[in-house]
Amino acid sequence: MFTTSFEQNLAAAIEIARSAPSSHNCQPWAVHYSPLSRTGYLAIDRRRALKGLPSLENEMLMSCGIFFQHIEALMRNAGTPLQWVWFDTSHATSPLPGDQDGLICFSPGDLQPTNSEAYSALAEQIRQRHTNRMPYESTQLSALQQYRLQEIFTDSPAHLDIWQDQVSRKQVADLVYQYAALDFADKQAWQETYSFIHFDKDKPVEDGFYLHHLFGKIPAYAEWLFRIGFHPKLNRFTRLLRLPQVMAREFSKLTRQGPQYLALSLAEPSQRNLFLTGMTLARLWLLLQQWGWGIHPLSVLVQHDLPKATLANTLGMTHLPIFFARFGQIKIASDVSPRRHLNSILTID
Ligand SMILES: Cc1cc2nc3c(=O)[nH]c(=O)nc-3n(C[C@H](O)[C@H](O)[C@H](O)COP(=O)(O)O)c2cc1C
Repeated sequence: MFTTSFEQNLAAAIEIARSAPSSHNCQPWAVHYSPLSRTGYLAIDRRRALKGLPSLENEMLMSCGIFFQHIEALMRNAGTPLQWVWFDTSHATSPLPGDQDGLICFSPGDLQPTNSEAYSALAEQIRQRHTNRMPYESTQLSALQQYRLQEIFTDSPAHLDIWQDQVSRKQVADLVYQYAALDFADKQAWQETYSFIHFDKDKPVEDGFYLHHLFGKIPAYAEWLFRIGFHPKLNRFTRLLRLPQVMAREFSKLTRQGPQYLALSLAEPSQRNLFLTGMTLARLWLLLQQWGWGIHPLSVLVQHDLPKATLANTLGMTHLPIFFARFGQIKIASDVSPRRHLNSILTID
């Protein structure tokens, strides 16, 4: 039971924000609020966070930043804004559970007028946004659209680069062809990824994805082929059959269609800056969503040192990318993926 409108609004905001995107749809977040001290925190839930590669920590921080940006914006529109600062143990009234790492401390700010229209529009956008891994229309971004996207980054530590030319399309596709097999090469990382892929549509799940989220509708035999062929226990067999190379070739073909790519980079990739980049990415993703555009992250190019440096070099970036994606106007709609329940995310005492 919630006793104040702040708690009610917080729960309602999290109910919507839980649709935020996260790597492998792992949803590595936890929120706690204490009505007695009128303080709360957002933390990384280590039981849920990915750990197959060290670089996945960047993605955990960005994912939590996206989730928090949604909560922050919804609470503002609900008239009960959050006052928030970067987490510091001195702000916490009691120690956090051992499997949580604090990111943000918050408390209720001064009450503001409610903006119901903006709240509903934002809630709808958050719910309607899905990662879109399908081919896009060939529509190019206009100069005004580019300006609107860059505007979001005015106060962000992150830098946004956009490419939409033929040469970049070939360069990115070549890099994907060269490096996509890395996803399968690291046994621990692939084991973790594979554990987030679900094959039984009748089994209730709250995270991860099904094959149709990744590849669209595919025949049942292809699902079985993937399930067996890419099973981590059959890693050597999979490599012998050169299945990773087949996947890399198909992935590269899709990547080459672009039509646009975006990279986010940071001069100083601290924890805090990565989280703030996530907050900015949330706004970018929703603005594209408003225009009917989708994003397909290509994290394999930023999760390993060599492709990351080669990508930066090839595309002439000043700083190393922390997020890279193809994006464009949606041609084929994508499906909603599973989510955790509110009461596994928010605890109130
Ligand atoms: C930081 C970050 C990195 C991601 N990297 C990839 C990726 O490399 N490939 C991919 O297909 N999806 C990627 N995604 C998308 C997630 O898989 C997706 O958000 C999640 O499965 C939930 O699906 P939804 O976005 O459709 O709600 C990434 C998302 C985030 C936030």
